[in-house]
Amino acid sequence: MSKVLITETVLRDAHQSLAATRMTTEEMLPILEEMDHVGYHALEAWGGATFDACLRFLHEDPWERLRTIRDHVKNTKLQMLFRGQNILGYRHYADDVVEYFVQKSIANGIDIIRIFDALNDPRNLETAIRATLKEGGHVQAAISYTTSPYHSNAKFAEYAKQLEEMGANSICIKDMAGLLSPYSAYELVKELKSTVKIPIELHTHYTSGLGSMTLLKAIEAGVDIVDTAISPLAMGTSQPPTESIVATLAGTEYDTGLDLKQLDKVCRYFTGIREKYLESGLIDPKVLSVNVNALMYQVPGGMLSNLISQLKLAGKSDKLQEVLEEVPRVRADAGYPPLVTPSSQIVGTQAVNNVLFGQDGRYSRVTKEFRGLIRGEYGRCPAPIDPEFRKKIIGDATPIDHRPADDIKPELATLKEKVAPYEEQEEDVLSLALFEQVAVKFFEERKRKKYGIDENADPALGIHAV
Ligand code: CO
Repeated sequence: MSKVLITETVLRDAHQSLAATRMTTEEMLPILEEMDHVGYHALEAWGGATFDACLRFLHEDPWERLRTIRDHVKNTKLQMLFRGQNILGYRHYADDVVEYFVQKSIANGIDIIRIFDALNDPRNLETAIRATLKEGGHVQAAISYTTSPYHSNAKFAEYAKQLEEMGANSICIKDMAGLLSPYSAYELVKELKSTVKIPIELHTHYTSGLGSMTLLKAIEAGVDIVDTAISPLAMGTSQPPTESIVATLAGTEYDTGLDLKQLDKVCRYFTGIREKYLESGLIDPKVLSVNVNALMYQVPGGMLSNLISQLKLAGKSDKLQEVLEEVPRVRADAGYPPLVTPSSQIVGTQAVNNVLFGQDGRYSRVTKEFRGLIRGEYGRCPAPIDPEFRKKIIGDATPIDHRPADDIKPELATLKEKVAPYEEQEEDVLSLALFEQVAVKFFEERKRKKYGIDENADPALGIHAV
């Protein structure tokens, strides 16, 4: 048995889950050097929604954030979350954009890239994995965890094996919805450990109150690395608390080697941040309590609140139970996709339509996104889709059975032309690629701040005073 390693999520997932991804670089800065002395395996510090939130809400350059963190964190590995062919955005990108993004992420300080796909379609990870290996980064390939009659530990192990063969340096079980229960985690980790040689990391959420127990059982089964968050920004929809896991394992064969006194410095700092967020309303106390809906309905917390608000808008709040019963049926029809962005929204909205317009027959109103999912525009769904059902949903359109990104021509040259009027660093083209309008707005504002130009802002670009 070897010691268990800890990845600290406070700089990415913890505030993404509890505080709408609004932690600023300025708020991180005073504690980075102390964090670097803790001895964490890695700091998850970038990617996910942080890139979008920097540009859109915080008026920060995400690349500058990454360089600043790197400057202050000299010893600990920096990790980012990367959504396969979607990068950090919401559509599939051409391979040249994916490759350039990986190159620049590593050049600016990232060591480990955790790459996942919502559908667990390995073809959507291919380019990102290849690019990360080429740049000398560590590829952590993630399995989007879900439960369904189709999924089993053997299927997950088969996928893990495939990812290992594609060049992954480690595997992450990504339980984004907090569905993984302690004993299931034990069985799953055992199965993965007997199938692949590379290290296994577990990422879960505390949402249903199981998180710490799930980590402990996974550790007993031999998991190598676990994701935790420093206690002031842990639990609720975030990760299990770092200090509690460290204390639990201290003196055992799994001892993390981390010092609670050093962690206490980090804890005290983030206690101040927590209080500030609670006061400003950035943290809603509701997200801090145990929510068992995820376990009862196998529906992630964020998806449930979306369903409730969609029904409320339609004046049909009384239909919630029917919708919750329709979700598993729609999911079965669609080949059991894991419920994570974007599949959770696609399946949820279709379930709402089926219930609200059920008098005309289920699927009498099919959303464009659901049609795309069934056609294969997002990749291959886990289980085969009944050809008759597919025909009913997509009509005469040709199903896509190849890698969706094969249909996308190289995009970088056109994007470089577009970014030219604003470009101050090579990375700007990537910000533009992911969030065009938001990035342009950010570039204009940056220019105005730098040169003090106020009146010349082009109203057509939607620039307004800050
Ligand atoms: Co997460």
